[in-house]
Amino acid sequence: MILVAGSANLDFVVRASHIPGPGETVLGQAFHTFPGGKGANQAVAAARAGGASTRMLLALGDDAYARPLEDSLTGAGVQLHIVRSPDQATGTAFICVSDDAENAITVAPGANNTLAPQHLPALDGVSHLLMQLETPLASVAAYARAARAAGVKVVLNAAPAQSLDADLLGLIDILVVNEGELASITGRQVGVAENLQQLPVPVVVVTLGARGCCARVGEHYLVQPAFAVAPVDTTGAGDTFCGVLVAALDQGAVLQDAMRQACAASALACTVAGAQSSVPTPDAVAALLQQQPTDAAAAQALREFCGLAI
Ligand code: RIB
Repeated sequence: MILVAGSANLDFVVRASHIPGPGETVLGQAFHTFPGGKGANQAVAAARAGGASTRMLLALGDDAYARPLEDSLTGAGVQLHIVRSPDQATGTAFICVSDDAENAITVAPGANNTLAPQHLPALDGVSHLLMQLETPLASVAAYARAARAAGVKVVLNAAPAQSLDADLLGLIDILVVNEGELASITGRQVGVAENLQQLPVPVVVVTLGARGCCARVGEHYLVQPAFAVAPVDTTGAGDTFCGVLVAALDQGAVLQDAMRQACAASALACTVAGAQSSVPTPDAVAALLQQQPTDAAAAQALREFCGLAI
């Protein structure tokens, strides 16, 4: 069983030709709300696309924004441990999605900031604890410490980017980052493989957008090229990757296979608008895996991009 401890936000989304720069106003299209938040998105991905038994610890306000978040999580089969914060608004995120499917996100954490060390539920039966960085860092560290003591694998998606101290890194079994987050943690702008070597974490997975992903396991490296899709909205694709990766590991997959499933699910998540609304079904993931077998030339090109020996 997977326990996700993290954020839930209601996403307020506007599509526009491009993401506005500083001081710029753009006229967008219709406005929509979607259930989001990195934690909740990852829980939905683990439960729906990954098919894993999933629980989530989250904090919500006592307001109208909370209900669609609860409904989306329970609809995906996630069991909830809700900390209700009557004095705080439910978390919200303000997202502009451009015509080329990229996004810019500003989060107002609200109730997410009330998730405290004492809120961690019992870890009986939990194989993996999956966390992100949209909730207080002190709580993330406390939960990681408790999970390590209980023999539960600690998986951290270090998003949004911030630097992490050595104490916290020492509690993590699997770190999942994108290239920017990796550079924020190491403080170095070097090649992917060289940057992965800097981190004192047994397994580090870096997602590389339309290229795929790369992992360092001890001294060894794995790559998984991306799946080809026509992207509409990349919001939540990284979260789908994390949820499906951990779900596959929870169900006994080896890391290479888990990366392949996670890449396929996150590619499909880019083809539908919204975050949790875009998490694919297991059948859709299986169909894409069958349609696009791993291509040796693409894997070699990715190894070269990452700076791995040819
Ligand atoms: O990773 C995408 C998510 O980031 C959005 O759903 C938004 O809520 C922010 O947490």
